[in-house]
Amino acid sequence: MRRLKSIHGEWSSRGAFFLAATGAVVGLGNIWKYPYIAGQNGGGAFLLLYLLCLLLVGMPLRMAELLLGRRGRGSPPTAFHELAVDEGRWRAWAAVGVFAVVASLLILSFYSVIAGWGLDYMWMSAVGSYRGQSESAIQGVFSALNDEPWRLLMWHTLFMGMTTAVVSRGVQRGLERVARVFVPVLFILLAVLGLYAAVEGNIVKAVHYLFTPDFAALNGKVVLIALGHAFFTLSLGMGTMMAYGAYLPEDVSILRVSVWIVLADTLAALLSGIAIYPLVFAGNLPAMQGPGLIFTVLPTAYGHAKYGDAFGALFYMALVLAAWTSAIALLEPGVAWLVERGMARAKAAMVLGSVVWFLGLMTILSFNIWSGVLILGHSWFGLLDMLTGNLMLPVIGLLIVVFVGWMVAERSLRQELQFRRGVFRIWLSVLRYVTPVAMLLVLLNALGLIRG
Ligand code: PHE
Ligand code: NA
Repeated sequence: MRRLKSIHGEWSSRGAFFLAATGAVVGLGNIWKYPYIAGQNGGGAFLLLYLLCLLLVGMPLRMAELLLGRRGRGSPPTAFHELAVDEGRWRAWAAVGVFAVVASLLILSFYSVIAGWGLDYMWMSAVGSYRGQSESAIQGVFSALNDEPWRLLMWHTLFMGMTTAVVSRGVQRGLERVARVFVPVLFILLAVLGLYAAVEGNIVKAVHYLFTPDFAALNGKVVLIALGHAFFTLSLGMGTMMAYGAYLPEDVSILRVSVWIVLADTLAALLSGIAIYPLVFAGNLPAMQGPGLIFTVLPTAYGHAKYGDAFGALFYMALVLAAWTSAIALLEPGVAWLVERGMARAKAAMVLGSVVWFLGLMTILSFNIWSGVLILGHSWFGLLDMLTGNLMLPVIGLLIVVFVGWMVAERSLRQELQFRRGVFRIWLSVLRYVTPVAMLLVLLNALGLIRG
């Protein structure tokens, strides 16, 4: 088969790709979401279940996306198109790629607003605004923030500016440079924050909460939560891994690098839990808060801990860095696509950055002025979150699995993956029979057709 070349250039090394891809996967999902869903759903038992989901669904799909990208050497629509041509399949498969690009831009539009909260909290911690405050006072601060469209807009604009600037500089000068510096910084920060929390907080209780398996808490619903989170946290079904795979040098082993990325993602989630819970328990604060955990409970905990202002600011800095490297990955597929259609990269980044910025306004307004406006019973933010996370993501993921598992010739797959025979058979069987069933379950649950 013909060998294609990426018009966007390639990662300069395997290490560069590893850092960029790790930056893409480690995001709000790890730092904000994992700690509270694990805590709420059985601690160590949830962890085991989640690891199983990563293995059975996350890994095979991640490899499928990387393979699709590297083989097609372009943005998701292009990669699908090239492969469909090569494999003698229907060219309309490119529509899946378009869908993936749309999903990633929609996600970015609210991801950026949440990252904006992070920026606000970083600033407020640094200037000591949370010092000695009670939890209910901080809840008030949080709702006051969301009542201020201009303040949210300022942070959202800053964050989208930071993201667009990087993407407009391209693969090596933009994406790779940021990842090389800030992904290591992010992990160092998380380690320092974990250490600080272990010393200053109640580490015994936190470890117990996060790791002691409570098998009684497991049920169908928890399985679906674990599965859904496995997709989200590995950035699957949104085309980002296809785009990053398109710049992957031929000699990098997709299996090996995927294992490392999944390990790094899991490590980030666990470190984040260790950074959060010891402080929460030391302050006798409610651990079961759910989504409000890091925006109401955690600032309260830092506000009462020694040097809490400084470490609190560092925590939100870690959050922003994680979100930033993920946001870059969410913008890249669309920009790459426009570049392939003949637009200059800087212009393409500006155009899509502005579109996303504009869409973000809707999220911002849905927190205040339009908070009474419900679409299908959801606020705009809730609707986007549900539509992308529960619907688009599993559908796109499912189509990717079907395409790679059933439409691409085994010979092409084997050539691209270079697995040993046994490994290849295992991968393909899982991809064909296990992964699609799991995705279908998530989808049916999202549609309300089955109840966990
Ligand atoms: N995986 C990221 C997280 O855990 C979210 C994300 C999804 C980032 C898709 C990029 C692309 O927060
Ligand atoms: Na993640």
